[in-house]
Amino acid sequence: MVSHVVLFPFPAQGHINCMLKLADLLSTSDLHITFLNTHHNHNRLSNFSSAFARLSLRPHFRFLSIPDGLPDDDPRSANALWDLDDSIRTRSGDHLRQLLTSCRQDGWPQITCVLVDSVMPFAIEPVEDLGIPAIIFRTASACSLWAYHCIPKLIETGELPFPDEPDMDEKIQGVAGMESFLRRRDLPSFCRETGDLANSRALQMVSRAVGNVNRARAIILNTCESMEGPVLHHIRSSVCPTIFAIGPLHQLLARAHQYSKEQQLSGNLWLEDRTCMAWLDTQPKGSVVYVSFGSFTVMAMDELLEFWHGFVNSGHPFLWVIRPDLVDGVESSTSTKVLFEKTIKLRVFIVEWAPQEEVLAHPAVGCFLTHSGWNSTLDSVVVGVPMICWPFFADQQINSRFVSEVWGIGLDMKDMTGREVVEIMVRRVMEGEQGKELKQSALVMAELAKRSVQEDGSSYLQFQSLLDYINSL
Ligand code: UDX
Repeated sequence: MVSHVVLFPFPAQGHINCMLKLADLLSTSDLHITFLNTHHNHNRLSNFSSAFARLSLRPHFRFLSIPDGLPDDDPRSANALWDLDDSIRTRSGDHLRQLLTSCRQDGWPQITCVLVDSVMPFAIEPVEDLGIPAIIFRTASACSLWAYHCIPKLIETGELPFPDEPDMDEKIQGVAGMESFLRRRDLPSFCRETGDLANSRALQMVSRAVGNVNRARAIILNTCESMEGPVLHHIRSSVCPTIFAIGPLHQLLARAHQYSKEQQLSGNLWLEDRTCMAWLDTQPKGSVVYVSFGSFTVMAMDELLEFWHGFVNSGHPFLWVIRPDLVDGVESSTSTKVLFEKTIKLRVFIVEWAPQEEVLAHPAVGCFLTHSGWNSTLDSVVVGVPMICWPFFADQQINSRFVSEVWGIGLDMKDMTGREVVEIMVRRVMEGEQGKELKQSALVMAELAKRSVQEDGSSYLQFQSLLDYINSL
């Protein structure tokens, strides 16, 4: 019987992007695919995503959607992420159940399994209640999954919640394998709550989610053994033995499709501004700092200006993604854009959304100042571009520690914002001996990631095992 897989990502860019890539891969392997979005993102994807247009044409691929529970006119802006999370957690379980039930009579093959985003463990119950196996897809790093898993133990041993006025540089002892380098400040941001556990909403929420993930039949991760082998070992022995580490997914997909650069397809929720590609063509090799803080980060105007001064003072040209909702309280980035472009016309290029994978692969780009979202980290890893990390929240705090301390492919400036720090960081990565070393390590890591998707590579083999696993359900 033909296998039919339903994929259900959390309604946010970083989650949709990488689940869409897996959906594309599974569909290329002859499975029937239903990709489930919220109504809101279904509309955005159909407007802006080239992948949506192409995948919709495949006979065994379809996009369906359910409500996210928020009013139609809610802007769903980045600084209201928790409202979206609350709404989808409390209201979409029933919609999911109804949709899966109606799928039983719609002429498509019976559903073999549902790939549920790991940040929406509430979706496991309605799926399994209908007798359909639920598999967890973790869109973020393995190191963050392992750190989250250890949180209940850290609470038990009293390391969490932090005491009042904690020394954030103190090492954390309860995350096996990371004792020598993981500090308080590197734990996922939800651990930063101090005081009573009873008042720590985020910690309680994470503890509940950990319990659900522990009951998973199998977990799929967008990572590879060469990047996170030791952590994957801990996850296999303590969280779930059936793990498929099949990343970096864009590389596995590129291999499957033998894409040329022009054929890369996006899962964008924003309109991509491609004018920056022509600007990059005019810049010298390795000279540009690419700056993007992903899809959720919200910063104060003061912080934005500190970054801007730091970049200008560094003397390097920079390409900066300023989303319309990046700056808290500023409705549109237009005024910021005008101000910046007037002042230094030639050295800065600002867009609201970039074709990021292509930008990072452009020879003019020498460094990526990133918020350390996992997809952005992988985007940079696969093309060997060193990073400067300014993590904002969740898994980003630990990802940036791995970039700087474990892989040695970038610098971590978490919890710092001054213009002097920005300038120094840019100079250290773009100039001198340290810059050369970081570039060299980044190229080695890119080569290892590339090898993982070759025919005898770990991610390629684990993807084949995933197909066998799905077909055996
Ligand atoms: C967040 C988390 O931090 C991340 O680790 C988690 O897995 C998902 O949620 P986000 O802020 O969206 O994600 O960052 P990231 O994971 O880096 O995803 C951003 C995505 O948007 C990447 O796929 C990137 O290629 C894309 N992007 C970003 C663009 O295509 N253009 C841009 O201008 C900026």
